[in-house]
Amino acid sequence: MTLVHAPDRHATLRSLPENVSRWQTETMITVNLNEKLALFSDHWNPRIVGELNGQHLKLVKFLGAFTWHQHASEDELFLVLHGRFRMEFRDHSVWVDEGEFLIVPRGVEHRPVADTEVQVLLFEPATTLNTGDAGGPLTRVALERL
Ligand code: NI
Repeated sequence: MTLVHAPDRHATLRSLPENVSRWQTETMITVNLNEKLALFSDHWNPRIVGELNGQHLKLVKFLGAFTWHQHASEDELFLVLHGRFRMEFRDHSVWVDEGEFLIVPRGVEHRPVADTEVQVLLFEPATTLNTGDAGGPLTRVALERL
């Protein structure tokens, strides 16, 4: 078995058979979160950067206030990579600082609010829709994979 280190990534990808997609090959090599974060600048538009066991790892940037919503059957994990944001619940709110994560249980109404830009890793079932039951203009259905 060959161990692949990050600097060898592109050479390794070029050597793979054409029928192996780039996405599939990512599963055996490192993913650099800051490199992925540098690829986009818009807000409230999650990108998928990993997939395992029916769950997605997504990167997203928040700025401003999102839509109140809940997810009927998915728990969501928010891990702050850079910055901080406030998760509002109907009866209280919680600051989530850099290096911290928060899990929002299914069925609990929530709304992330970021006074300044925050960069977040989401870990949640692949079925999770960003606006949950609320819909609206911020809903993203087909997510880009980085
Ligand atoms: Ni949510």
